[in-house]
Amino acid sequence: MLNFTVDRTKCNQCGQCVFDCPSRIIELADDRRPFIRPENEERCIQCQHCLAVCPVAAVSIFGRDPARSLPLTAGSFPDVEKMIALVRGRRSVRRYRDENVEPALLQRLLAALSNAPSAINRRALTFTVIDDKAVMKKFRQKALKGLEEAGKAGRVPSQYAYLMQAVPAWTGEGVDMIFRGAPHLLVISAAPESVCPQEDVNLALASFELMAQSAGLGTVWCGMAKMTLEVLPELKAAMGLVSGHYYYAMLFGVPAFRYARTVQRDDAARVHRVQI
Ligand SMILES: Cc1cc2nc3c(=O)[nH]c(=O)nc-3n(C[C@H](O)[C@H](O)[C@H](O)COP(=O)(O)O)c2cc1C
Repeated sequence: MLNFTVDRTKCNQCGQCVFDCPSRIIELADDRRPFIRPENEERCIQCQHCLAVCPVAAVSIFGRDPARSLPLTAGSFPDVEKMIALVRGRRSVRRYRDENVEPALLQRLLAALSNAPSAINRRALTFTVIDDKAVMKKFRQKALKGLEEAGKAGRVPSQYAYLMQAVPAWTGEGVDMIFRGAPHLLVISAAPESVCPQEDVNLALASFELMAQSAGLGTVWCGMAKMTLEVLPELKAAMGLVSGHYYYAMLFGVPAFRYARTVQRDDAARVHRVQI
């Protein structure tokens, strides 16, 4: 049951909900009241666009009260200059303060992540987070010890040879080349049954990165963490990650420093204009 309802005292019969429905299941009745036929309900992808687009807050679905949505007005989004500055000025941060991120902030960022786009709006993501620097410290030690042992036992597949430079850096100099001394790790995963599992994972992480950096946090995508978990399946299982699920990892925390300016690589992308 979608519980699609329209407040007739508010509905101005503009048809926006009909036009915006990606599955095209909302129709206008003879009296121009929007409705969904029961036999079409299963085609709903639960995107809530009908609730979001209604200019007079007349539409409700899944029992959601439109009055509880964040109203969107001309000033609700950061302006384009600020967004461009965020995209250009966001950096991979590899030096962190030895402190936990405020739990309330992390909670807000993770909750907002459910709004990242996902194929057919499946939102079948799991957010696995190390939100305590003491846990991260133990995790780091287990990971590096595990890699050292795997290396000695010849259990590291050749494609992960690059990763193994991290072992002497850690044992010899106490430098953490994998987790960069970060206090936190976020792994986002998706079951293979998702329509586009890796894309959904990456989009959620990209959203997290932009939100976190706009909140003053540092982040870095961590392919080396993923390699580590592939070499050490027992550590991956200990985190609660399911074998066969798609995933990626991101480190984050309060940065120990700030970048003073952007890099200069606006010209790095090849733009190919199609003219047919
Ligand atoms: C998929 C992916 C994996 C990455 N893995 C790592 C990593 O394991 N360790 C690391 O320090 N940086 C990692 N990075 C960060 C890149 O090195 C970084 O994005 C690139 O050097 C550009 O720097 P910038 O992010 O500051 O613009 C990764 C980035 C991406 C997109």
